[in-house]
Amino acid sequence: MKKEPPIIALNKVCKSFPLAIGGQQQVLFDVTFTVKSGEFVAIMGPSGSGKSTCMNIVGALDSATSGTYELYGKDITTMTDDELATIRNEYIGFVFQNFNLLPKRTILDNVMLPLMYRGLVMDDRIRRAREMLRLVGLEKFETYFPTQLSGGMKQRVAIARALAGNPKLILADEPTGALDSKMGNEILHFFKKLNKDMGITIIMITHEFEIAKYADRVIHIYDGRIVYDGPVPASENTLLKAEKGHKK
Ligand SMILES: Nc1ncnc2c1ncn2[C@@H]1O[C@H](COP(=O)(O)OP(=O)(O)OP(=O)(O)O)[C@@H](O)[C@H]1O
Ligand SMILES: [Mg+2]
Repeated sequence: MKKEPPIIALNKVCKSFPLAIGGQQQVLFDVTFTVKSGEFVAIMGPSGSGKSTCMNIVGALDSATSGTYELYGKDITTMTDDELATIRNEYIGFVFQNFNLLPKRTILDNVMLPLMYRGLVMDDRIRRAREMLRLVGLEKFETYFPTQLSGGMKQRVAIARALAGNPKLILADEPTGALDSKMGNEILHFFKKLNKDMGITIIMITHEFEIAKYADRVIHIYDGRIVYDGPVPASENTLLKAEKGHKK
């Protein structure tokens, strides 16, 4: 059988941002990892360690300063903005901490939005968006506006929107960060189901070890470097020890 190539392959990715006072601040150092189709990966690490920066590169929202990044075997470091937008729309569903819903549009409109770029006729867009709302249990709310929903419901709308384009990969940056633990757990169970039943690859950033336990693998970033990459350890101490090994 032919070995399936990784869907994500970062090799020695570095990222620097220009500082207001001049010079550069390096935020990622030689970040190297691959993700195979069907994995559920948690990215952990302290605030400011570079998790979102790394996720933005994986999601082709930002580019590396050096190193290479292949998504589905395509080197995306040399692509134009238009090509990147197409790749994002085709392969990736994004879920953010603050839902990023359009407040003046109905729930149905919000879910239909990414389908605009898919060349689907209006009827098909509506059908697909309704199907996704059914999947997250919100079919009765399609005419509501985001402000009329609870946080957990908003995040379910955001997930329906992320799924509408039938992505192979979901990138979630602290998806439960703005939710209480009951709603957060609901969302995490849903992610688990998407991963196990639909085979969707998930990469999720979280601060909390309890949340990382829903994943099968943890990549722990500390000061812009990967200090642990492996199965979810039995205790968070393993990750904290890995940090200590890298303290300057
Ligand atoms: N666009 C940017 N311009 C300049 N500096 C940035 C930019 N984005 C991030 N940084 C810097 O990069 C570092 C890492 O930020 P990042 O947002 O990746 O951290 P994080 O691990 O996601 O933190 P948190 O857990 O608080 O979300 C920080 O020092 C931040 O100030
Ligand atoms: Mg972040």
